[in-house]
Amino acid sequence: MTLTIVGSQLGDEGKGALVDRWGGDADVVVRYQGGDNAGHTVVEGGAEYKLSLVPSGAVRGTVGILGNGCVVNPKTLFTEIDDLRERGLDPDVRVARRAHVIMPYHRVLDGIEEEVKADDDAGDAVGTTGRGIGPTYEDKAGRRGIRIADLLDPDALREKLEYAVPQKRALVEDVYGLEIGDDDERAEAFDVDALHEEFAAIGERLADEEMTVNCADYLHRRSEAGDEILFEGAQGTHIDVDHGNYPFVTSSNPTAGAASVGSGVGVTTVGDGEVVGIVKAYLSRVGEGPLPTELDGDADEEALADDIREKGGEFGTVTGRPRRIGWLDLPMLRHAARVSGFTGVAVNHVDVLAGLDELKVCTGYGLEGEELDTVPTTTDRWERCEPIYETLDTWEPFDSSAVAEAGYDALPEAARDYLEFLADEIDTPIYAVGVGPDREETVELTNPFEE
Ligand code: GDP
Ligand code: IMO
Ligand code: MG
Repeated sequence: MTLTIVGSQLGDEGKGALVDRWGGDADVVVRYQGGDNAGHTVVEGGAEYKLSLVPSGAVRGTVGILGNGCVVNPKTLFTEIDDLRERGLDPDVRVARRAHVIMPYHRVLDGIEEEVKADDDAGDAVGTTGRGIGPTYEDKAGRRGIRIADLLDPDALREKLEYAVPQKRALVEDVYGLEIGDDDERAEAFDVDALHEEFAAIGERLADEEMTVNCADYLHRRSEAGDEILFEGAQGTHIDVDHGNYPFVTSSNPTAGAASVGSGVGVTTVGDGEVVGIVKAYLSRVGEGPLPTELDGDADEEALADDIREKGGEFGTVTGRPRRIGWLDLPMLRHAARVSGFTGVAVNHVDVLAGLDELKVCTGYGLEGEELDTVPTTTDRWERCEPIYETLDTWEPFDSSAVAEAGYDALPEAARDYLEFLADEIDTPIYAVGVGPDREETVELTNPFEE
């Protein structure tokens, strides 16, 4: 059986926490898209782990796979593995030989393109994480990418670099009009010999540690042997390059269909399993783009956003940027539930909303005299949507550990009403409720591996 975990909103919904919780019942945890733009937090008995590439099952010792749909910065991967080893874990991570490699020039180009867009009236900076994600996926689609398999073959690697690197240098110098002199700190990113030496050595470490796999074949064999596979989505539905708020998106597909494409496990197998959308009980967004329910209208709203940001620790895991805050937006959740086919949802951060004076939920949008129940397709139209709110009862702070232990009925009545309202509106059952960051601070209604 498979379980696919998908971000329902704009990333940072608490996917890592649920992957860790349910990962205890999985035999393999697979990332199927994205790269080290992700920051997934696992808290176990007060110890906090922030993972960018190592799949979140590692904290429980479950083998982790970076699927063919991922873009991998091997240097980040090794640093993360080494750091986890120093903390006493022994992460077993395998990387698909078909996965694409984030090269140093991809990171440089990510930065340059963001600066150029910010300075150009016609361009819109996305507020990327600067990890080179977009440029790497561009090269993958442009059939000039470097794959993990190429790092294992020094001749193939040299050939690919000799083709790609002069093009990247020309892009920087001739299109963006920037000089990269020999003493520029970015010079090595455009030096074929230096890149070859560094990445051939990375290939040797990957080979020595037997870290590379034929992902589709490996997962097929594990599945045939009856093993349970957990797919760990990164990012979220509304920053999906196809289904999200284009162009303020990441360059991959966090939605559930990509679990199949990005791993080589057939769609029927993924579709036979469970697909759980992870929902934050309010909204947060890092980076640019509209947010119709954003709490930024006046000083009172800004104070409330500050309060939620502090209580919820809403600062980017990867970049440390403060996250923008908004009320829960049901049109966004309907879209997410439809495009991924959620069989259940887990709603996190219910503790963070305790003790508010007022609680609002957006049930639809008003646009040009019409009422919409889902998200329009363009940024321009979404930006002009006026949220239609319903005000619900608030609840008082509660003891998260005690509630998690006692179960769903121990939650304050108003919190249960809020959750049931949400579940009804998107016609999807609630599998779990997050009442704190720790593994034990989750109220579980259904364990998807036992469905
Ligand atoms: P991810 O990217 O979806 O894995 O989420 P992040 O790790 O970037 O951000 C979620 C943050 O919220 C982390 O600091 C988690 O430890 C924390 N968290 C997860 N679930 C809950 C919850 O139910 N309540 C609270 N207060 N924090 C939570
Ligand atoms: P997790 O997995 C939240 C956002 C960036 C930016 C846009 C594009 O932790 O939920 P990119 O570097 O991917 O090209 O940036 O996407 N973004 C995320 N926001 N959570 C994430 O990951 C994100 N990964 C990328 O802020 O707006
Ligand atoms: Mg995150």
